Amino acid sequence: MAAFQPSLECDNISNIHSEQTDSDLIQKTDERYRETLPNLPKGKGWITKHLVQYQGFWLTPNAALKNLMWVQDHFKPRPTDIFLASFPKSGTTWLKALIFATVNRTRYGFADHPLLTTGPHDCFPFLDAHLQEKDRSRFDLDRFPSPRLLSIHIPYILLPNSMTDHQSCRFVYISRDPKDVLVSKWLFLNKLRPKDLPPISLEEAFELFCQGISHYGPFWDHVLGYWEASLETPEKILFLKYEDLKKEPLVVVKRLGDFLGYPFSLEEESKGVVEEIVKLCSFENLSTLEVNKVSEQKFSKDTIIDNRHFFRKGKVGDWKSYLTTEMVERLDEITYEKLLGSGLVFGS
Ligand code: A3P
Repeated sequence: MAAFQPSLECDNISNIHSEQTDSDLIQKTDERYRETLPNLPKGKGWITKHLVQYQGFWLTPNAALKNLMWVQDHFKPRPTDIFLASFPKSGTTWLKALIFATVNRTRYGFADHPLLTTGPHDCFPFLDAHLQEKDRSRFDLDRFPSPRLLSIHIPYILLPNSMTDHQSCRFVYISRDPKDVLVSKWLFLNKLRPKDLPPISLEEAFELFCQGISHYGPFWDHVLGYWEASLETPEKILFLKYEDLKKEPLVVVKRLGDFLGYPFSLEEESKGVVEEIVKLCSFENLSTLEVNKVSEQKFSKDTIIDNRHFFRKGKVGDWKSYLTTEMVERLDEITYEKLLGSGLVFGS
């Protein structure tokens, strides 16, 4: 399915290098990838045979590493770009819907809103997973209207300078208690695991997670990268927690509007626009829509996921139903030690 585009107008700015130089650049990235891959440390994969460690982070060799190199070598941000960054299973789907609805709220009515018929991942695509599409018309960044909404799992320190140094593009980072992330990730990835591989036990997933060996892990390094960057440049990076969003969605969505340069007017507030957005993007609403129950989502040439897998329970603290006391103690201890002195805490 091609990425949903809010309107036909687009900025006439080229974001990928021109066609003339494109193939040379593609070749260079391919060479860099082929030279780098064999030398990387390997760890056990959750859905692929193994993950590889690249500059401190664990990535799938065929998709994530290749896509990262594409972003590093080819992507040119626009000043108006809005990036949603996250560690997988932290609430990306929810934030995609909330940001899309906030930024486009004057374009669409709530009764026939695109999110009612188009999944959040199509309204707000992943930048890195689609860059390799051979058929550019399926995902033509050049034709995306501004502001482009692009999602990434790439750790902050691996982003190209063009993205981190850019004065005006914005990042929203959604974080979540690692215990809920682990459980959500384990259940999600077991659904995607090829049938010829035995399922990963929770004990094994727990061990790997604690060692940092999981997609885009270690979890703590990922979160801290964006946390520290958000302290340094709060005008550029908004750091959010899933738990805060659950507790006070109206407050957080208003903050989101202010941060992104789309503040809610008093009139909008009095008309209940913020409430409408929260309701539209709620787990209860999105998870029951036909589009999120039946359609598939193509993330890369090899990864197709049923939309329904992105909606499980949407609760805070579901880890209590899965993790043993020993697991909780160990994970909390690691989190405490890793985040010590950073000022960042997650609920116990
Ligand atoms: P659970 O598995 O704990 O239910 P991601 O979008 O980063 O892959 O994260 C998926 C997690 O977010 C899942 O958590 C999913 O149920 C939850 N989620 C998806 N949509 C949501 C929504 N609208 N509100 C709250 N949580 C949501």
